[in-house]
Amino acid sequence: MERKEKLYEGKAKIVYATDDPDKNILYFKDDATAFNGAKKGSIMDKGVINNKVSAKLFQMLAENGVESHFIEQLSDREMLAWKVDIMLVEIVARNYIAGSLAKRMGKSEGGKLEHPIIEYYYKDDALNDPMINRDHVLVFGIASGEQIDSAHATALKVNRILSEYMLERDILLVDFKLEFGSHKGKMLLADEICPDTCRLWDRNTLEKLDKDRFRRELGKVEDAYQEICRRVCGEL
Ligand code: TMP
Ligand code: ASP
Repeated sequence: MERKEKLYEGKAKIVYATDDPDKNILYFKDDATAFNGAKKGSIMDKGVINNKVSAKLFQMLAENGVESHFIEQLSDREMLAWKVDIMLVEIVARNYIAGSLAKRMGKSEGGKLEHPIIEYYYKDDALNDPMINRDHVLVFGIASGEQIDSAHATALKVNRILSEYMLERDILLVDFKLEFGSHKGKMLLADEICPDTCRLWDRNTLEKLDKDRFRRELGKVEDAYQEICRRVCGEL
C-alpha cells in the first residue's frame, strides 16, 4: 500500500491518504510535545517504538474482542488504519492517582483507586482540552449518546484487558488516554496506545516508564520507551 497525499500532521503522527479511500497510513514521528505543545523535543526512535507497541496492543485487543482502526503494520514507522471520523472527546481511564487527578484532588501520586475513574476531555488544542462530562458532550453536539456510551464501555473493557496484560509484564497501568472514531457507523478505537498516552510504572520499583520522564525532565527517556517495547512486544 503506497503513501499518497498528506492529509493531516499532528504533534506525534502524520496521516497520509492511500489509493483506497477507506484506508489511511499513519506515520509515527520522534517529535515529542507536552503541556499542549508548550514543551517541545524529540525522543530518539519514539516513532518506531510507539508504532510497534500500538500495533501489538491493537492486535492483542482485537483478539479480546475490541475493534480498532488498526489493519496492519507496514514498516517501522507506518501503520495502515481504517479511515475514521475522530470523535472530539478524549477518554481517560485511571486506576491510580497521578498527573492531573493528583493535582485536581490535592493528593499525592500513587494511591490505588477503589474502582477505575473514566473522564472525558474536549479535544480542542485552542481550549487546552478542557474536562467535560456527558451532558456537555450531548448539549454541545460533540458526539451522540450512543457514541459516547459505546466509547465509555469500551474504555472500561480496554482497561480490564490492558491492566492484566501489563501486570503480566510487571507493569502497572496507572492511567491512559484513548481516542475513538466512527467508521461505517461503528465506533472504533483509534489513535495509538503507547508510552506517550499511558502512564506505566514498574510493578516493583514504581519507576516511571512513560512520557512523564520527558514531561518532568526525569532523564533516561529513551531507555524507558525501549524497556516498555521489550516488555510489551517480547515473549513472556
Ligand atoms: P493527565 O493526568 O495529565 O490528565 O493524563 C492522563 C493520561 O492521559 C496519561 O496517561 C497521559 C495521557 N495524556 C495524553 O495521552 N495526552 C494528553 O494530552 C494528556 C494531557 C494526557
Ligand atoms: N498531548 C500533549 C501535548 O500536546 C502532550 C502530553 O502531555 O501528552 O503537548
